[in-house]
Amino acid sequence: MKQKKSWWILILVSFGIMIPFMTPYLTLNPANSRISITSGTVQYPVLVAHIAFACIALIAGYLQFADRIRLHRPKLHRYAGRVYVGSVLISRLLALVLVFYVGDFTIAVSFLVLSILWMLTCWRGYRTAVQHKFDEHAYG
Ligand code: HEM
Repeated sequence: MKQKKSWWILILVSFGIMIPFMTPYLTLNPANSRISITSGTVQYPVLVAHIAFACIALIAGYLQFADRIRLHRPKLHRYAGRVYVGSVLISRLLALVLVFYVGDFTIAVSFLVLSILWMLTCWRGYRTAVQHKFDEHAYG
């Protein structure tokens, strides 16, 4: 029960942070961007696509931890898993493009490392699932 409560807190906090950050990009107007956009480049469309796929990845990712789905709807768990892997991959590739537009070298490297780490953990989750190594898949 305690663990369930902390999951809900984690989900609420992450969506509570994410939604206000995403809102300006729902207008699809570069003028509303919170970061500076180099006009005449792919930066803005790539940024919007990055945000959309990152959001799908987060939603699909959280669904993977719901016992009700994992234990009683295994097909849905597998489907959401594929959506998660696909959206992480696309969002990460787009983030790699965005890194080139980050002005500060240290911040750019941090984004790069973060992107690689998320891809690696996602790949490991996928591999252990298709290899039926469910202990490793669930507990790392
Ligand atoms: C490994 C994870 C992630 C990496 C490497 C990454 C990478 C980036 C990069 C490089 C930028 C451009 C920043 C700049 O030019 O200053 C950016 C912006 C942004 N990303 Fe991500 N991102 C990640 C995860 C996410 C997630 C999970 C979300 C939420 C859905 C998200 C939403 C955003 C938003 C809203 C912006 C615009 C920043 C702002 O308005 O301040 N990102 N991201």
